[in-house]
Amino acid sequence: MPDLSIPRHVAIIMDGNGRWAKKRLLPRTAGHKAGVDSFVNTVDTCSDMGLEVLTVYAFSAENWNRPKDEVGALIELMVNGINKYEPEMMRKNIKLRLMGDLSLFGEKCRGSLAAVQQRLSNNTGMVLCICLSYGGRQEIVNAVNELIKEGKTSVTADDIAGRLYSSGLPDPDLIIRTGGECRTSNFLLWQSAYAEYYFTDVFWPDFDKKELMRALESYSKRQRRFGR
Ligand code: FPP
Repeated sequence: MPDLSIPRHVAIIMDGNGRWAKKRLLPRTAGHKAGVDSFVNTVDTCSDMGLEVLTVYAFSAENWNRPKDEVGALIELMVNGINKYEPEMMRKNIKLRLMGDLSLFGEKCRGSLAAVQQRLSNNTGMVLCICLSYGGRQEIVNAVNELIKEGKTSVTADDIAGRLYSSGLPDPDLIIRTGGECRTSNFLLWQSAYAEYYFTDVFWPDFDKKELMRALESYSKRQRRFGR
């Protein structure tokens, strides 16, 4: 492995599952299934590398508008995937943080996810943030509404940052988007202020360790000036 300056926090927009499946004449859900495998492999690699935080965009607030069957299958795959992966996360000392409007998920699903999060809550290794029913604008709006409820009439950037799902975590240094699109899609709008972006045409199920190293290598060559 080349000598890389490892970022503290990597965030990933996992895109291209549907096209990966289409290319193989498979149903879209087969792409999501392969996407779960890719997710598990990526979490393993990032934890082994000593990353502090990994955030993944698993299900956006807009994804509810997809066909009902696909939404149902995707949620089932993700919830089962997280449950199945729990023992490994425990072994790797990974802490889980779910970010998004979980109230929109069914009670059973919500309960099962909250229970996994709770069981991993004393872990001290990498923090794995999974964005579910997440939208960056909604996150900021929620934070502002919370501040209004607290009676604030004027706020600081720290006040807002402290009420986001990501409160207390460092901002992402590197945001990777797979699947060929070059947009941010309402992901970590506040937290991405000084993030480096890396876009790749590789579909998410094909994003393996080699591709991750490519992204990290590109990041390590960049000079971050934070506006200075
Ligand atoms: C975008 O591909 C991907 C998603 C909407 C789902 C991402 C979720 C996973 C990879 C699973 C994560 C797993 C866990 C356990 C959290 P797309 O369907 O938009 O692909 P397309 O743009 O090619 O149609």
